[in-house]
Amino acid sequence: MLGPAIDHLTTPRLLLEPLTVEHAEEMVSVLDDPRLHAHIGGEPLTLEELRARYRHLVAGPAPFHQEAWLNWIVRRRRDHRPVGTVQATITPGPRAAVAWVVGMPYQGFGFATEAARAVIGWLRAHHITDVHACIHPDNAPSKAVARKLGLRPTRERAGDEVVWRPPPPGDPDRAG
Ligand SMILES: CC(C)(COP(=O)(O)OP(=O)(O)OC[C@H]1O[C@@H](n2cnc3c(N)ncnc32)[C@H](O)[C@@H]1OP(=O)(O)O)[C@@H](O)C(=O)NCCC(=O)NCCS
Repeated sequence: MLGPAIDHLTTPRLLLEPLTVEHAEEMVSVLDDPRLHAHIGGEPLTLEELRARYRHLVAGPAPFHQEAWLNWIVRRRRDHRPVGTVQATITPGPRAAVAWVVGMPYQGFGFATEAARAVIGWLRAHHITDVHACIHPDNAPSKAVARKLGLRPTRERAGDEVVWRPPPPGDPDRAG
């Protein structure tokens, strides 16, 4: 498999667990809101559909794709409730595309930023420093998350999405 083996991650408020098929039972209600799909396409899935999707994600891509799919369920530590997911798609380079989803009742508390920051830190610790996110221009909350993570919009496009990356070294906007 391309890329590192996935780990459990811990942040001050969150636990990130490697996705399993069994997570579908808890996640189906977290993801059951059409508003989550406004900028990313698709629609809420039934439990059976979500199980099938997680089975597909856990199995990972066929080796000839030269990709790895790393998926975490994000859980709030104080009550163990699942609140969302973070995904990192690893491609040769190595490069990683990172994406985040947080259930509607849990939005606005900084969970996406905290979880994605942990994933990006973990990727960097595994020498995957070329990290980007693809974000629809109208997706204001996701753009705010990316900005807090130190990513900035580029001229690159992926379909109708803008590619966000860390500013180049020497750029005054570059964090750290
Ligand atoms: C994008 C998403 C994951 C953010 O989750 P979250 O846990 O609420 O994110 P955070 O709390 O870490 O940060 C949200 C930021 O968006 C800002 N925000 C929220 N709504 C906004 C709006 N309409 N306009 C501008 N900023 C907005 C918040 O103020 C916050 O920024 P701040 O901390 O600087 O104030 C969540 O909205 C989501 O799941 N959306 C649907 C799925 C999706 O589009 N995923 C992105 C794929 S690229």
